[in-house]
Formats: sequence, C-alpha cells, structure tokens
Amino acid sequence: MRAGLIAGANVLSFSPLYFRREWGIGYEQVAPTHLDQIPEIVTNHSWRGFNITTPYKETILKLIHQIRHPVDKIQATNTVVVETDGAWTAYNTDYEAARELLPQYAEVHGMWEELWVLGTGGAARAVAWAHAELFPEKPIRFFSRQPSKGLPFPHPHEVLGYEAAQDFAPTRRKLIIQATPLGAYPNPQAMPPLSLEAIQPQDVVWDLIYIINPTRFLQVAREKGCAIESGMRLFRLQAQKSLDYWFSVHKRYQRALAGKP
Ligand SMILES: NC(=O)c1ccc[n+]([C@@H]2O[C@H](COP(=O)([O-])OP(=O)(O)OC[C@H]3O[C@@H](n4cnc5c(N)ncnc54)[C@H](OP(=O)(O)O)[C@@H]3O)[C@@H](O)[C@H]2O)c1
Repeated sequence: MRAGLIAGANVLSFSPLYFRREWGIGYEQVAPTHLDQIPEIVTNHSWRGFNITTPYKETILKLIHQIRHPVDKIQATNTVVVETDGAWTAYNTDYEAARELLPQYAEVHGMWEELWVLGTGGAARAVAWAHAELFPEKPIRFFSRQPSKGLPFPHPHEVLGYEAAQDFAPTRRKLIIQATPLGAYPNPQAMPPLSLEAIQPQDVVWDLIYIINPTRFLQVAREKGCAIESGMRLFRLQAQKSLDYWFSVHKRYQRALAGKP
C-alpha cells in the first residue's frame, strides 16, 4: 500500500521514516510548488491516501469531495483518503488523537481550569477542538501574532496578543499547548513569544513538536516545575489513525479487484 505526505519544501517530517520502518508501507514526502499539482502527484504515486501539512492544511479543502467531523468546524485537515470511486475524503487525525490523549493527560497530571493555545494554525485548532468537545465549560484562549484575524473555531474562545498573557491571574491552573513551529529545526533554540513569567509551576505544558524532545520551551517549563508532555504520543497516534483509514480503503480496492462485493 502506498501513501505520502504533501508538505512545503522546507518541512522536516519524521513521517516517511516512521511509516516505512514501523509499518512497512510505501510512503514519500512530496513538495508541490502549487496546490493544483496535488491531484497529479497523488495519481502518479498511486497513493491510497496522504497526509497534508504546512502550508496546505487549509487550502487543500478546495480539492476535497467530502469532509469528516470536525474538518467542517476548524477548516483544516491532515489526512486525506482516496476512495475507491476516486473521491477524496478529509479527516483530522490530530483532533482524533488529541481526543484520546487529553483525558489521559488530565488523569495523569490533574485537571486544569483553562486552556491556552500558542498559535492559531491547523494543529492548534484541531487540538483545541478536541478540548472544546471534552471540556466545553473550560475557557479557551489562543495566542497569536495577529490577534485581530478571524479564526474558524465556532466554540467560545478568545484570540489574544502574546503581551496580554500578563493580564491573567497566575493562580488559575492552565494547560498550555505549544502549537507553533518555534523550537523545531532549523532553530531548536527558538521559543514561542510567551512571557516566561506567565508560566506557573502548577501548569501543564504540552508542546506539539515531536521532532525534538524535549524542546527548549519544555525544558524551561520543566525547570519551573510544570508537568510536561511532548508531541511524540500525538504523532504516533495520529499516524496510526491515518494508516487505519488508508488500509480500510485499500482492502476495499483489493476486494473490488478480486470481483468481490
Ligand atoms: N505531534 C504531532 O503529531 C503534530 C501534529 C501536527 C502539528 N505538529 C506540530 O505543531 C506545530 C504547528 O503545526 P501547524 O501545522 O499548525 O503549523 P503552522 O500552521 O505552520 O503554524 C501554526 C501557527 O504557529 C504560529 N507561528 C508560525 N510561525 C510563527 C513565528 N515565527 N512566531 C510566532 N508564531 C508563529 C502561527 O500562528 P499566528 O499567526 O496566529 O501567530 C501559525 O498559525 C508544528 O511544529 C508541527 O510540527 C505536531
């Protein structure tokens, strides 16, 4: 079975190595120069499906025929399945994986009172949507370089500039999800522009970056006494879920080829 990753030219992903070594499938990373090239890439590589990341997580939706919850809510996908009739179905397995992990983290570290999400991209919204469904009463605050821009996220939330972090009482325990690329390669020393004074020892800090573990941000949080989680478990779980979708359609292809209903 073949699948792949559509990503920008400068995206460093562990997925090709992981899918090939761990699961033994054909998996290639391809960097189109334009969105319009993607259908040809998928056909030429005979992919049953593909992962999709920066900068195409949102724009790919123009090419999608059917979407699965909550792609409609957050307007971002990371997994596409090529159905037996050729239609493309978009899933968000980052969201599905986060729905499993968040209750585990709450159990292990104790529940928090509010959620802070650094960044407003596809991964930020996917994980925050899982949180909104699981804990609808907990306030959600996104931090952004451009807080005034609209966000596809139809659950009550705030979008704030990073400087606003100092306005919040340090007594409320929070889960901070680091969902920017800052701290990954090529600059592992980078950190999100959140004032470190805003991070309190009782907080739980989850950095979605998995390619460096722990990131500098997580090291600082750990030194402050916070409970920390890296992005590795999310990475493995979302990959497993993508694979399950592709294999399920692959089996349907094989049954059709064998003339079975
Ligand atoms: N563990 C996993 O399985 C997993 C899954 C998905 C993603 N991730 C990781 O999560 C991170 C985000 O992924 P994504 O797909 O959502 O990426 P993205 O869309 O490229 O970026 C996410 C957001 O980060 C903020 N940002 C980007 N560059 C910044 C900068 N120089 N300074 C401050 N903020 C910046 C932006 O928010 P504003 O414009 O609002 O500031 C942007 O929307 C990446 O590191 C990715 O590797 C991990």
